Amino acid sequence: MDKITLIATAAMGLEGIVGQELRDLGYENVRVENSRAVFEARPSDIPRVNLWLRFADRVKLLVGKFNAYSFDELFENTKALPWEQFISEDGEFPVIGKSKKSKLYSVPDCQAIVKKAIVERMKQKYGIADRLEETGAFYRVEVDINKDEVWLTLDTSGSGLHKRGYRVGQGEAPLKETLAAALIQVTNWRGDAPFVDLFCGSGTIPIEAALIGQNIAPGFNREFASENWSFVSDRYWDAAFEEAEDKAQYDHPLNIQGMDIDPKMIEISKANAMEAGLGDLIPFKQMQARDFKPVEKGGYLVSNPPYGERIGDRKEVEKTYRQLGGTMKDFPTWSVYILTAHPQFEKVYGTEATKKRKLFNGFIETNYYQFFGKK
Ligand SMILES: C[S@@+](CC[C@H](N)C(=O)[O-])C[C@H]1O[C@@H](n2cnc3c(N)ncnc32)[C@H](O)[C@@H]1O
Repeated sequence: MDKITLIATAAMGLEGIVGQELRDLGYENVRVENSRAVFEARPSDIPRVNLWLRFADRVKLLVGKFNAYSFDELFENTKALPWEQFISEDGEFPVIGKSKKSKLYSVPDCQAIVKKAIVERMKQKYGIADRLEETGAFYRVEVDINKDEVWLTLDTSGSGLHKRGYRVGQGEAPLKETLAAALIQVTNWRGDAPFVDLFCGSGTIPIEAALIGQNIAPGFNREFASENWSFVSDRYWDAAFEEAEDKAQYDHPLNIQGMDIDPKMIEISKANAMEAGLGDLIPFKQMQARDFKPVEKGGYLVSNPPYGERIGDRKEVEKTYRQLGGTMKDFPTWSVYILTAHPQFEKVYGTEATKKRKLFNGFIETNYYQFFGKK
């Protein structure tokens, strides 16, 4: 098996950034579609992309796609695919599914049919008369039907790629690590200028900034489902981890700070940064946003402040936004990036954003307000 098709899934609005990330990693012919980027690769790329993708949710392997309008078609087309090339004889392979705008809409039925078809194929190919043991490596199969087109995939990642392995604690509304990394990517900050998050919560934005600034592979600290797959050889994993080690610039000096009003969050941020292997590279400090007075020029402020959605919080949050807008007016060389769902953010902050971008923070529709600093 030489060529495979991989799918990097992404949160709505981040698929373009994931596509670019894949091109930067050297992949050509990347197709960006709704919530995913599809690209051609080899099995040895599975470790590489899982280790390096900062903004994607998961990496899935496309086993096959076809149109199906009946359960028979679903069964026969699934059975015709070379599952034994991927799933080992003792592999455990639960099937999950989804269906949208399709004749085959009953997801539990589709899952059961796909499962049955793979079981039959595997028993034939491996010459097994009894039932399959399913005691070995874990392969999550997904049947995804959209407008009668069926995509059958295997999830190479295991837990979502946002789980970097460093979050030992969190606050009430933590940002997904993948979204935090994307917020930083959008700023063009690449490790050389001062970087501050005044509402750092559990430290996600400063920690992701440090990983970007030192070119540390985001998946360096975790495990992946496909580490146990026989067609993804241990050699490929070793090579990918070695590449990540070679490319990391642990000595690259960074000027990143995280602040929060809540001392508990500062403790959590410190613990998370420690777990990420960053030691005390990032000074975390308990502070009110309104007390921020930058001493250097040309810095980046990237924050995910409270949105003021709960009744009673709004006035307080608006006061914080207003004070921040007032403070940052005195530091025109600073670029400010704020993610919030507050509908009148610019009005309250007191300045019109240079640019804004709609993004989903989980299910909450937010805007990412970007105020470029003067050069
Ligand atoms: C939405 S959370 C940030 C979550 C963070 N991005 C994470 O991933 O954990 C907002 C944070 O702002 C802090 N906060 C609220 N008002 C503040 C203020 N006036 N100054 C500084 N921090 C404040 C809260 O304590 C909370 O941790």
